[in-house]
Amino acid sequence: MINAPRGTRDILPGQTSLWKHVIHTCEQAAVSLSFSEIRVPTFEDVALFQRSLGEGTDIIDKELFLVRGRHTEGEQYALRPEGTAGIVRAYIQHGMRTLPQPVRLYSILNLFRYERPQRGRYREHVQFDIEQFGSKDPSADAWVILTQWTALTRLGLGDAQLSLNSLGTTEEREFFREQLIAYFKPLQEELSEDSKRRLSSNPLRILDSKDPLDQPYLPNAPHLIDSLGNESRHHLDTVCTYLKTWGIAYTIDPFLVRGLDYYCQTCFEWSIPSEAGRPLALGGGGRYDSLLPALGGPDSGAVGAGLGLDRLVDLLEERGWQEPSSEVPKLAIVEEKSNKEAAAALIPQLVSQNIALWTDFSRGSLSSQLKAAAKEGCTYALFISEQGLQLKDLRRGAQQTVRLEEVKDAII
Ligand code: HAM
Repeated sequence: MINAPRGTRDILPGQTSLWKHVIHTCEQAAVSLSFSEIRVPTFEDVALFQRSLGEGTDIIDKELFLVRGRHTEGEQYALRPEGTAGIVRAYIQHGMRTLPQPVRLYSILNLFRYERPQRGRYREHVQFDIEQFGSKDPSADAWVILTQWTALTRLGLGDAQLSLNSLGTTEEREFFREQLIAYFKPLQEELSEDSKRRLSSNPLRILDSKDPLDQPYLPNAPHLIDSLGNESRHHLDTVCTYLKTWGIAYTIDPFLVRGLDYYCQTCFEWSIPSEAGRPLALGGGGRYDSLLPALGGPDSGAVGAGLGLDRLVDLLEERGWQEPSSEVPKLAIVEEKSNKEAAAALIPQLVSQNIALWTDFSRGSLSSQLKAAAKEGCTYALFISEQGLQLKDLRRGAQQTVRLEEVKDAII
């Protein structure tokens, strides 16, 4: 037997309504804050991800799903591991810089990362991604946070905690990088294998390490936020002022660095305490001004964020989410064997009236069809008798003769 690949999952019929609810709520939040939908390809030129996300990040070095066709000699593609790179490419490729700015885009994306599967970590996951182009103003960062907060609170996850940090400008980060190397170098032998490697490739990521070997050395490590210049400090303070005005609670976390290299200035993460000890990240994002020019676009500012929908769905399921009872009455067409063709002939007109239908003519008797219909949640059943078309109210048991064109009104 062939099973689904490790780290992927089937969403079964009983689970799709929660998924639809989560996706719909996120989309509504995005639309209500002026984001328009964009859809981009599931795979892109591998160079796009390498240039955007940064060599030396786990996502590029270890987790890319490379795609090769039979006849793609010389072409190298990868399944998208995240959404920002593809949306930035589309913004540049389609000349969206000529549109009135800011351009606000959202997308629901299936993403692929070859990670070690565990609770809340899949090899295919879905994100609600938002990107805002054409503004370097701190209000744009705050707007993105507001959009995620709106989606989370509408989903009943207002207890998610927001952590905020600033990664400063490229120059500030470069200076800080040297400070970090100076601090960690003498401790090198004590650090975890990952951190030893990162010391030369990406020392900022050491700050984000959860490895017990690294933990004793983190509290005294220098903080980038302490060496920010006036402009970066002012940018962060202004984002905070907006959040306070809107009543969005946050904490400043000087250790927050995020796993992708394109960020500068504001970065943030939403998380929820988890029984496993480590808080579970529900989403995150930040400003990435240098990515647009790096990919051939304008130097006009960009900020965005993603929410991990698998984790939102898992969390809501754990918290006992109940599907609101369906507003649409479901009508069962039931019939004795001899009359099935006549009953089947009613169906097209009922479908064209947009009535939700259920049938199972494979069941023999009328009574077994009625029982099954009630179990399926049908509220009415329709069948043909000698007296004409009969409509039975399955909850109250009442029955009446109806004409086909009256059925819709009778069941509302
Ligand atoms: P990210 O932090 O890599 O950011 O992912 C965002 C969220 O997606 C995470 O907080 C988590 O909830 C969820 N997530 C990530 N990996 C997995 C996984 N393997 N299984 C389940 N859920 C996962 C980004 O991807 C950025 N592109 C966000 C962004 C948009 N930044 C600017 N614009």
